[in-house]
Amino acid sequence: MTTILAIAGSVRAKSFNAMLLRAAVELAPAGTVVEAASIQDIPLYDGDAEAAHGVPPAAQALKDRIARADGVLLVTPEYNNSLPGTFKNAIDWTSRPPADLARVWGGRPVGMIGATPGPGGTGMAQAAWLPVLRTLGTLPFFGARVQVSGAGKAFDDTGRLADAAVRAQLEKYLAGFAAFVARQAR
Ligand code: FNR
Repeated sequence: MTTILAIAGSVRAKSFNAMLLRAAVELAPAGTVVEAASIQDIPLYDGDAEAAHGVPPAAQALKDRIARADGVLLVTPEYNNSLPGTFKNAIDWTSRPPADLARVWGGRPVGMIGATPGPGGTGMAQAAWLPVLRTLGTLPFFGARVQVSGAGKAFDDTGRLADAAVRAQLEKYLAGFAAFVARQAR
């Protein structure tokens, strides 16, 4: 079984990215499980707090889940044509201490998808993640894209991904990413 840890980059109750993540859980291909993770409860990075107490429990729990997963899927909103600082803050914590970086992120297959009510589909946020993924030493997946624009119409009132074309696109993405992850399985 291939395990993909999907991390929602928004903690908003009606987050479109959390809805997209739930659709990814539902549409995982056979032989793959997509598990949901949240950045809720991860404090702002503070080097003094790290020196005094180490990595905080919520960030440590996320780190441990990343280290156990075969692949990681970032489900990213876009803020001001870039990645959300809140999401990056959580990922920054998972990169600490540097001695753990190779174990947690090194060579790990990472995919990215995202949703926005606007027209851009999080393309600029996804591009902004690339230098971060390179610095973490990950293995990014470039075999397909999911950039959901007009998210207010793609999801119904219950939060289900109702747009058939986007569902098909997500299904295809997950099949490609899961195969990529399985090929790298250590
Ligand atoms: C946004 N939003 C946004 N959307 C977009 O497509 N491009 C952008 O540059 C921005 N910029 C931006 C800045 C800030 C500070 C906020 C709060 C929002 C809109 C954003 O896509 C929208 O709020 C989404 O609903 C956020 O994702 P979740 O919370 O629905 O997952």
